[in-house]
Amino acid sequence: MKVQILGMGHSLPDRILNNQELEQMVDTSHEWIVERTGILERRIADKDMATSDLCWQAAKIALERSGTEANELDLIIVGTSSPDMLFPSTACIVQDRLGAGKAAAFDVEAGCTGFVYALGIAEKFLLSPEYKKILVIGADLCSRFTDYTDRNTCVLFGDGAGAAVIGKGNSGPGILSTYLGADGSGARHLYMPAGGSALPPSKETLEQRLHFIRMDGNEIFRFATKIVVKVSEKLLTGAGLSYQDVDLFVPHQANLRIIKTAMKRMRIPKEKTLINLDYFGNMSAACIPVGLSMAEEAGKLKNGDLVLMVAFGAGLSYGGILLRWGRD
Ligand code: UT7
Repeated sequence: MKVQILGMGHSLPDRILNNQELEQMVDTSHEWIVERTGILERRIADKDMATSDLCWQAAKIALERSGTEANELDLIIVGTSSPDMLFPSTACIVQDRLGAGKAAAFDVEAGCTGFVYALGIAEKFLLSPEYKKILVIGADLCSRFTDYTDRNTCVLFGDGAGAAVIGKGNSGPGILSTYLGADGSGARHLYMPAGGSALPPSKETLEQRLHFIRMDGNEIFRFATKIVVKVSEKLLTGAGLSYQDVDLFVPHQANLRIIKTAMKRMRIPKEKTLINLDYFGNMSAACIPVGLSMAEEAGKLKNGDLVLMVAFGAGLSYGGILLRWGRD
């Protein structure tokens, strides 16, 4: 038995925030942003939207493309760090909206690694005969927690959602190996200080702008360049494959320099690397599923292609999935 992606979908807000607009908001320049990050523009959700809205739109497409009815779903997992509310889970809101009454539903909080974690967890559920079809979503409205007075972070993030319906296949295509990890000692390098049980919202937390992303970019950069290669090596070695076998490398889209460093170390060429941060920025958990969904739409993925996904983010969390694209 192989766990296969049966269909994918994505949803992006219409509103574009480009570098020139950011130049009017903080002390930055289009040249600096492009040179240091590779980002040209990002999508920002309208005020009346929530993460569940983008999840629902992406999920509808994934269900249709996989030929799945919502009431066939056994489980919905949403990887997100920007849930509609602290509770209930965004997955429960999506379950109700889709009419997926049979499905259990929960969120996974693994920062930018959210989709990879959710997919890795879903794969394990499918090993049980009781679970046949699972909806896995990676979605984030990063703009809701981005401080647009902080030039260190506001140039990086965007909003989006990507969804995959996964199920069981007989042989051939499907997940070959998964690897999930974390290093909690780096938790303070990327976090939102207030709004949780440690520091509930108060007049003081609002005044001190503690409800926004805080990041030590250099620490994350150092961590990312090492971990992407480590995860990739682990996945490929485990499956008895090498970098040359990879048809599409799908890294988390945090910074073009991180991606280029990994490509160089792993000797994976540009034509085999998915890059979408130029037009969407860092959409956190949505980067990888949006990228895969768009690559499939563009006809860039063939049956049997070897896809290597690797993500890292708040936690610090990290993980990857190696799979043969397609279904039988
Ligand atoms: O999804 C996971 C989460 N995030 C990441 O993975 C992010 C990883 N880190 C990065 O992508 C990079 O570290 C950044 C893009 C955040 C920063 O790039 P950098 O090349 O590492 O810049 P830096 O932090 O070393 O700062 C260099 C200079 C500083 O000025 P001084 O102190 O040298 O005068 C910064 O204040 O660049 C300044 N700077 C900016 N200048 C113009 C920082 N942000 C900006 C900006 N525009 N937006």
